[in-house]
Amino acid sequence: MTDSQRTLTVGLLGLGVVGSGVVQLLRDHAEEIAGRVGARLVVGPVVVRDPDKPREVAAELTTDLSAVVGAEGVDIVVEVMGGIDPARGLLADALAAGQSVVTANKELIATHGAELLAAAQERSVRLEYEAAVAGAIPIIKPMRESLAGDRVRKVLGILNGTTNYILTRMTEEGADLDPVLAEAQDLGYAEKPDPSADVDGHDAAAKAAILASLAFDAEVTRDQVFTEGIRGVTATDIANAERMGYVIKLLGIAEETEGPSGERQIGVRVHPAWVPAEHPLASVREAFNAIFVEAEGAGELMFYGRGAGSLPTASAVVGDVVTAARAHLAGEELPRVAISRKPIRPMDESIVQYYVLLDVVDRAGVLATVAATFGDNDVSIKSVWQEGSDDHAQLLLVTHAAREGNVQACVAALEGLSEVRRVASLMRVEGREV
Ligand code: NAP
Ligand code: HSE
Repeated sequence: MTDSQRTLTVGLLGLGVVGSGVVQLLRDHAEEIAGRVGARLVVGPVVVRDPDKPREVAAELTTDLSAVVGAEGVDIVVEVMGGIDPARGLLADALAAGQSVVTANKELIATHGAELLAAAQERSVRLEYEAAVAGAIPIIKPMRESLAGDRVRKVLGILNGTTNYILTRMTEEGADLDPVLAEAQDLGYAEKPDPSADVDGHDAAAKAAILASLAFDAEVTRDQVFTEGIRGVTATDIANAERMGYVIKLLGIAEETEGPSGERQIGVRVHPAWVPAEHPLASVREAFNAIFVEAEGAGELMFYGRGAGSLPTASAVVGDVVTAARAHLAGEELPRVAISRKPIRPMDESIVQYYVLLDVVDRAGVLATVAATFGDNDVSIKSVWQEGSDDHAQLLLVTHAAREGNVQACVAALEGLSEVRRVASLMRVEGREV
């Protein structure tokens, strides 16, 4: 049989936003893909919940999962249904049956990725998940392959388009969160009625866990990621950041640092952060995503693009299908990948700069009392800015890099001072301290 006569069948679990895009690309680009793979990729059965629902694309619909999972004649399974169950068991069964699997499911990979990768290695089939982090942006393959000879030190990512859209609107319009969130929901970015997956940082945390696992050859799961969303970010915080030369972004951060006894530790966190206006991540606007990688040899790299949407996400899925198809045809044995169990650094041990906004009583000695509280907790102040009216003032402080635990103790002490009416805001500052 000549290469052009060979066919491989791709079965899908799900035909929603991403699944429809996958079918469209596999059909529209069929000739080019056949040339690149050395075989035609045909769309086989597609499992959905409701086969009577109107669809963007025509397909052989079924509700029978066994028409795809473990089915004779289906070579590659594309999982674009989402959620942990039943996807976890279905993918385990597909891998055990010797089918390669492509998934866009960040939640599943960030929770059970190691177990599924082990199942794939057991049968020497592929488990690919490029679309699970930052949609269209190629980041999984660059981390796993292009940077395999390097040592990644830190990854900083704008990993959620919805929150980046909201923060961009707040920054450019001076608006508060609530009206912009309502607009993001109307535009279909944030879920209605509950936008928490995006706004509370859960979506970004799953992606950060996947990036940390890849960057540091470790098993990092979503529940190990310190997660704080954007609900506390105000128009005042954004104006204060701008005044000091920063913009506020929701970042996913993964880094490898040295623990107290010299051991390697992984720090992984998601939270709003001040980013210097001149940092490449600061100019990432609207619903775009970007990932900034610092590696020992390569230096600084940035990957930018659309983190969601039907065709952007499908582009990454179909790229993975091509990878799986090539491996299938080559019959290659997959190398065992060593996954270590590096300890996760407790958030209290993180060393970061902070912005602190205080409402204080405006009278002699207050600044000295506040400064002494920072000093008592071993937190060094880098800059202070004060604006007063009548008998009260707003004190904005930016610290030098300090231990998170010390900063939290400092904030608790500040809250106990009669001179401090309230700690209005506490936010971390990223980028190199200058
Ligand atoms: P979606 O539009 O809600 O589509 C889900 C599809 O899966 C639907 O066709 C649904 O069937 C089917 N489905 C769900 N549960 C099922 C079950 N138990 N049995 C059979 N079929 C089932 O979701 P999506 O936006 O395409 O997202 C799919 C995956 O891609 C998720 O893991 C998501 O996190 C990830 N992802 C999405 C984007 C994006 O831009 N949307 C970006 C990156 C990653 P019915 O059509 O019959 O309801
Ligand atoms: N809801 C996500 C975002 C897209 O806003 O980036 C899917 O991961």
